[in-house]
Amino acid sequence: MSSQFSNPQPTSDSAAGAGQFSCSRRSLLRGAALATAATAAGALLAACAGEETVAKAATTDIPVGGAKIIDNWIIAQPEKDKFTAYSTECPHARGRIDKIAEQDGMTVAICPKHGSVFDTATGDVVDGPSRDPMALARDVQVNEGAVEVIN
Ligand code: FES
Repeated sequence: MSSQFSNPQPTSDSAAGAGQFSCSRRSLLRGAALATAATAAGALLAACAGEETVAKAATTDIPVGGAKIIDNWIIAQPEKDKFTAYSTECPHARGRIDKIAEQDGMTVAICPKHGSVFDTATGDVVDGPSRDPMALARDVQVNEGAVEVIN
């Protein structure tokens, strides 16, 4: 009685060429060690290379108690000389927050996609479907009259 299944044999056009398949325990462990080292180095490089200036404005361009959209960032100055920045990517469904307005005595940022409204002083949701606040930039620095968003 013959079996319905047979071991597949490498063909001449296979990637292994002569059909030699070999992966010893030693080479498997060596490969795993290299992959781990590469992953750690990659993570370190990503962490080091991840921060850069992504938006910049003159401090005088950001109104005290207000905010302005610069590139993909909302730069706010809730109090004199205190700056903060948020991504314009809406936390609700990744729409682009594209409007700054005054509403009930506060400066708000508005996402047109579904109407979420955020307080630019805190990033918190004021109204709309978003449940999450706007995402803060990693850092905001003031140098020689310019406010820089670092992310
Ligand atoms: S994506 Fe901004 S409110 Fe929905």
